[in-house]
Amino acid sequence: MPLLDVIGEDLKVALPSGELTRFVHLDYAASAPCVRAAADAVQDLLPRYGSVHRGTGVRSQASTLAYELARDVVAEFVGARPGDTVIFTRNTTDALNLLARALPAGTTTLQFSGEHHANLLPWPNPVRLPTPSSPAEAVTLLTAALATVTGPAVLTVTGASNVTGEVWPVRELADVAHAHGVRVVVDAAQLAPHRAVDLDELGADYLAFSGHKLYAPFGAGVLAGRADWLDAAEPYLAGGGASAVVGDVPGELTWATGAARHEGGTPNLLGAVAIAAVAEALAAADRDALHAHEQALLTRLREGLAGVPGAVEVSVFGPDQPRVGIVSLALPGHDPADVALRLGRDHGIGVRAGQFCAHPLVRRLTGSATTGSCGDGATGLLRASFGIGSDVEDVDRFVAGLAAVLRT
Ligand code: ALA
Repeated sequence: MPLLDVIGEDLKVALPSGELTRFVHLDYAASAPCVRAAADAVQDLLPRYGSVHRGTGVRSQASTLAYELARDVVAEFVGARPGDTVIFTRNTTDALNLLARALPAGTTTLQFSGEHHANLLPWPNPVRLPTPSSPAEAVTLLTAALATVTGPAVLTVTGASNVTGEVWPVRELADVAHAHGVRVVVDAAQLAPHRAVDLDELGADYLAFSGHKLYAPFGAGVLAGRADWLDAAEPYLAGGGASAVVGDVPGELTWATGAARHEGGTPNLLGAVAIAAVAEALAAADRDALHAHEQALLTRLREGLAGVPGAVEVSVFGPDQPRVGIVSLALPGHDPADVALRLGRDHGIGVRAGQFCAHPLVRRLTGSATTGSCGDGATGLLRASFGIGSDVEDVDRFVAGLAAVLRT
């Protein structure tokens, strides 16, 4: 079976009529399904795993090797440079929180209000710029903000919006930031599953992403980037692994350097290995062909939705901005949560409704002053998102299902 085939793509669900139908998963932006490469890698280790970095037996030796090989593979996947560190975290939120706590004292954080909460909330001394209407305006806003910043600063920006799928002008923003000596953090949670991510090509000093959106099972994420701040920071989790030498009295200790400093406790071996397996499979795949397939589905989806009365596609930069496989819709006169529920119950289609942990952005896109929960809520938008394993039938069933729900 090909390594990028999705596990469980033939999952069946019962409709109210009792008929069984193939479940259409269009919620990849929240959690993508697992591909064969990740499943095989985990299956392979299950019978023989042991402690990582902590034992001499064959299980421990093999596990330590597998974990460090996974790190090397991920380093290559993101184009890590000499001196960069790759840290395995729990997910993107964890990775960004880790880095936020590692910034030199007094650092100002420049951010746009269109970010996911994971990239909005962890940062110290935030200067929040309005969500721009165009990539050029994003650059203009950043340039103006940089002129007012004194002292150390970072810019943190998403690679692709989890709400609209639009690709942000990361490289252009990074060039401006770097010209002011400001480092750049890229939240690649939504970009990495769809496009090759390379630290240097993006102009990123740091990159964060999640395994569960990259076709690997839950529980592991990645922070990659410049080692100096990370090595100088307090360990993210104090404990075993993060400590090199611990003396007899409190405070008498030497912390580890490198990734170990921020990987306190026994690490998530299976999560790291799963991410690395997908990274390897993606690196070996024809990314142009994957991209072309995804863009063809996107075009079909958007054209189909344009013919559904009552569904209005939203965007930050306008309809022509390149985007990954995500489309969000305003549904005037309808409750998006109810529509999502009916799509699941009556049509066997899984999507997400609400504000997608991006409240300021969704408020801007809907013009709504209300704030709902971070989860599926009665306010906000309806989102369809897809990727590897998605096909024309998924798109067509969603368009037809949505039209049927909105008609009744
Ligand atoms: N960040 C994820 C989403 O957008 C959970 O759905």
